[in-house]
Amino acid sequence: MALYLVTGGAGFIGSHLVERLLIRGESVRVADNFSSGLRSNIPGGVEVVEGDLAAPGVAARAVVGADYVLHMAAVPSVPRSVADPIGTNHDNVDATLQVLVAARDAGVRRVVFSGSSAEYGDSPDLPKREDMPPTPVTPYGLQKLIGEQYCRMFTSLYGLETVSLRYFNVFGPRQSPDSPYSGVISLFISALLRGQSPTVFGNGSQTRDFVYVTDVVNGVLRAATTLGVAGESINIATGRSVSVLQLVRALQQVAGTIVEPTFAPPRGGDVLHSQADITKARTLLGFEPAVSLEDGLRDTVAWFKQATPVGA
Ligand code: UD1
Repeated sequence: MALYLVTGGAGFIGSHLVERLLIRGESVRVADNFSSGLRSNIPGGVEVVEGDLAAPGVAARAVVGADYVLHMAAVPSVPRSVADPIGTNHDNVDATLQVLVAARDAGVRRVVFSGSSAEYGDSPDLPKREDMPPTPVTPYGLQKLIGEQYCRMFTSLYGLETVSLRYFNVFGPRQSPDSPYSGVISLFISALLRGQSPTVFGNGSQTRDFVYVTDVVNGVLRAATTLGVAGESINIATGRSVSVLQLVRALQQVAGTIVEPTFAPPRGGDVLHSQADITKARTLLGFEPAVSLEDGLRDTVAWFKQATPVGA
């Protein structure tokens, strides 16, 4: 039995990781500042270190005795980083550096870092392969690239094992629709279930590679323990993409509604197309996405229905 520290364990992806680790019989500790994560996402009995990981001493307290650090804590929003580059740099870069130093000093076996497809920027080459030169076009993409480069440097300079995963568009139960910066699927489901019109930025032809959260959890856990992958950056996605308009159509079907979208101007910093090549994840991690977009949307809509009381 190993001790896993899940930073951001009260958040969307982090809480799914905590749940799976507990099922596997591992020991789990969560570090979270509860800026967006919910206490109700953390199962009872799990130890919690509350605080800002970028503040002195918090990361050191969180990593004591940990074998693995799954660093999920972040402000994972492209538009929010455009609106607030300094605040998001604090949470996405300063906190990551503190976690890496603390993990190095505590002798942690491996750190898994949450990178992003936003690191690739808006180059027209598709699908995105890890050996393509990153050219981020937003503070968020740059912050994730810096985090990833810090990870690789800590591996080569200090011998701390790190693996960076570049998640594409993750969706599933517990993704909060409560902020204008929330993920598109959570916003669209929340609108449709209220009979409101989802807002499509631009003409809806932009594409994304949507990956279900339990598949991401599989990728993270494989990255934590697979031998010989320290220092690598690896895409975690499905390898397929759909347009935002196709997504609206699929959700209308699953939710059983004909509410039509409203169109708004394109969002600043949005990349047009995003689709991953997942050959590296398959080869190095044995990663294989198991949940189709349709099944994932069905489960996510079902979760939103039970989480949102009728009439709310
Ligand atoms: C998302 C993630 C980011 C991750 C990245 C990897 C979220 C909140 N952000 O960014 O953490 O690193 O994927 O690719 O999960 N859209 C609408 N209407 C809306 C909201 C969004 O049309 O109400 C469109 C956007 O313009 C965009 C697409 O949907 O084209 C996806 O947007 P969003 O869910 O915010 O994700 P990304 O910006 O791709």
